[in-house]
Amino acid sequence: MNHIELDRSQGKPLHSLVYEYVWNRIQRGEWLEHHKLPSVRVLAEEMKVNRLTVFKAYQQLKEEKKVYVKDKSGYYVQPGVTMPFDDLESPIVFSYVHKSHLSEIHRVPANYQFSYALIDPNLLPNRYFSESMLEIVERYPKMLSTYSTPQGDEELRQSLAHFFANKYGFYLTQNDIMITSGSQQAIDLLARMLVQPMDVVLMERPTYSAAIDMFRNQGAQIVPIDIYPYGYDLEQVEAYMKQFKPRLFYLNPTYHNPTGYTVPIEQRKKLVELAEQYRCLIIEDDPMHDIYFDHKPPLPFFSYSTEGCVIYICSFSKYVAPGLRIAAICCQPTIMKHLLTVKSLADNGTPLLNQKIFLHYFMSERLQQHIVKLRTALSIRKAVMEEALSVTNWKWDSPSGGLNLWIQLPETLSLEKLLAKSIEHSISFVPGSICDPSKELQSWIRLSYSYINEQQIKEGMKLLVQLAEQVDQNHRQI
Ligand SMILES: Cc1ncc(COP(=O)(O)O)c(C=O)c1O
Repeated sequence: MNHIELDRSQGKPLHSLVYEYVWNRIQRGEWLEHHKLPSVRVLAEEMKVNRLTVFKAYQQLKEEKKVYVKDKSGYYVQPGVTMPFDDLESPIVFSYVHKSHLSEIHRVPANYQFSYALIDPNLLPNRYFSESMLEIVERYPKMLSTYSTPQGDEELRQSLAHFFANKYGFYLTQNDIMITSGSQQAIDLLARMLVQPMDVVLMERPTYSAAIDMFRNQGAQIVPIDIYPYGYDLEQVEAYMKQFKPRLFYLNPTYHNPTGYTVPIEQRKKLVELAEQYRCLIIEDDPMHDIYFDHKPPLPFFSYSTEGCVIYICSFSKYVAPGLRIAAICCQPTIMKHLLTVKSLADNGTPLLNQKIFLHYFMSERLQQHIVKLRTALSIRKAVMEEALSVTNWKWDSPSGGLNLWIQLPETLSLEKLLAKSIEHSISFVPGSICDPSKELQSWIRLSYSYINEQQIKEGMKLLVQLAEQVDQNHRQI
């Protein structure tokens, strides 16, 4: 006999708990239409409650037309009340069907890869890593024979504390820093730790598509805040903070993915004040801070926070070694305490080998030289892509850093058809709608200029523009 534990701690009447249990299973699609519910006797025994209690719950479900009765046979799920399993907007369904829209796009094989916001492996310090590997293993001979700590290697956290102090003026100790397996894991851990089903989470529109999926997977209700080349409409932000009392605002304010926009300094200060006033946490995701072309961007939001409402995620994955998966979360001690539990549950710590390899490189002169060269290479690739697009009437704001162009196509051009045709011709890009929590941005696309070389960008863009002309012409002829 199964035993079903009812949560009696909140003092709700027992029949309501039984009702909620049954209704939840129906809503989640576990009991589909015409499914026979357990008999009153069986459920009462499993829940260790009186049969009358179960009867009362079933009667309520019947009165609300969620179940129906067949004479002498029992209770059945009413057709039409279950949620379709592909209703991905529903937080309940989202918490059962974990989706990753971006990884679906990335699985499409393509010669002209404009969907990866990743740096071309040829531009990364591969040789340095292969040459230094033996030295690192010799320096830390027992490294592979032990776990890292969940918070991350102490030596690395100390170096990062100095790095953040010198670069951004953060006041941190190693205890305020956690090493994670990429910023992807950092967002996921924070979402798991901070978000309960139906909590309101503010997110930029557009935003990093995988972050939408991660917050949705926790059952969050996402409220979008539009991001413009000049930042946010702070009146809108304040109105939403007042109205929705959001749990947190996830933002990516520096060379934002997908737009490339950077939020100006005055807005950074003001937004931190608003977050403090309305007790809304800010998660600042900052994987591109160092990928600027001319001028350094403003300091992170984290440096303007005095009350600890900002959680800062800094990733070194993009421009050092995506394969090492090294990122860091900086936050106040009360948040760190809970984060340690979530991280231990997830993986007991990021692999020590990866942390030590990264540390070795991070401490070397080579890092700075590498970044300087990388900025030049990426700005050339951006220019090549923009040149290829100059023959079109497509619109974009040229970013001053990052890896992507965020492009508005003419409204007459069917994005769906263009994507299908592009995939046929081995070109991939990110359709803007997956970067929009409300899926309204139907005529925007993200093109990354960072993954393939100049020649491939020229060829791929020429082909893409031709395909767009064909799609547009076909549309006009219909
Ligand atoms: C805004 C943003 N956050 C997080 C990530 C994940 O990066 P990683 O896990 O490699 O650090 C990406 C990758 O594209 C990104 O653009």
